[in-house]
Amino acid sequence: MKPIQVGLLGIGTVGSGTFNVLQRNQEEIQRRAGRGIQITMVADLDVARAQSLVGPDVQVVNDARQVIANPDIDIVIELIGGYGIAKALVLEAIAAGKHVVTANKALLAVHGTEIFAAASAKGVMVAFEAAVAGGIPIIKALREGLTANRIQWIAGIINGTTNFILSEMRDKGLDFDVVLKEAQRLGYAEADPTFDIEGVDAAHKATLMSAIAFGIPVQFDKAYVEGITKLGAVDIRYAEQLGYRIKLLGITKRTAQGVELRVHPSLVPAKRLIANVEGAMNAVVVNGDAVGTTLYYGKGAGSEPTASAVIADLVDITRLHTADPHHRVPHLAFQPDAMSDVAV
Ligand code: HSE
Repeated sequence: MKPIQVGLLGIGTVGSGTFNVLQRNQEEIQRRAGRGIQITMVADLDVARAQSLVGPDVQVVNDARQVIANPDIDIVIELIGGYGIAKALVLEAIAAGKHVVTANKALLAVHGTEIFAAASAKGVMVAFEAAVAGGIPIIKALREGLTANRIQWIAGIINGTTNFILSEMRDKGLDFDVVLKEAQRLGYAEADPTFDIEGVDAAHKATLMSAIAFGIPVQFDKAYVEGITKLGAVDIRYAEQLGYRIKLLGITKRTAQGVELRVHPSLVPAKRLIANVEGAMNAVVVNGDAVGTTLYYGKGAGSEPTASAVIADLVDITRLHTADPHHRVPHLAFQPDAMSDVAV
């Protein structure tokens, strides 16, 4: 069977990681997917740089719409980011009958309801494992591994940049600005780092987990969001003296009044596992009624960890698409009668 053909929109940190891991592990990936997976077309504004990354066998264009219009492309990976052009391209790809893989948490947290509805109507998949907690397969855990459970709450360190900043400030006494620059250099931070430090990025991710866990529409606008910019070295030191670590947590919880959805700095007792998650690492704790408390830990950002999640989605789609090209999967399995509102 000929390999499934993939078009990549945007070849930055995650895009190049995806291309490289797909090449390096192609035999294992093909065995697991039951079919080869090939990136055959890339769209990027910097065509020369993109071509040097992928070599002469891959067609590189500067117009993403050429990828979407190519009838040979089965799956489009959107790694452009942001709400603007990315939204238009994702909707166009869906309308063209392509499955979509995206790491774009901002887009899905704000426009997810519209995008998932369009995908369901067209019978294509929108997969987003890479959008939450990078390489940690938390979307799969919530949708598959924990599917028997009534989820009670989720709490997580889901922004690597802020965890890196808090860790470095505490351990090395470094200034906020110095550590932020380092996080940007390492490729952890968003294009607009205010999304990281003001808690917005974590709230995007918490919104997506909340929707999956509680069967509610994505409601980013209902989240309470507070970042780490008001914290000083003195807060971190006092917390330490009292036996706590300050962590920026994304929390979503089932309550009698509705679903809570909030992001804010939290005092975590130093002996807790999650208090000892350092640097750009992420960790998510999920409590379900049957399983109890489970913990997921790993790299929440960076090129190949995020690529690992993108490729997991490619493999999933390849399996389903190959079995039945019009396979319909419920995207977020909304339950209209569930708590349909978010209460802060
Ligand atoms: N800016 C994000 C972070 C990247 O720091 O976690 C991964 O989503």
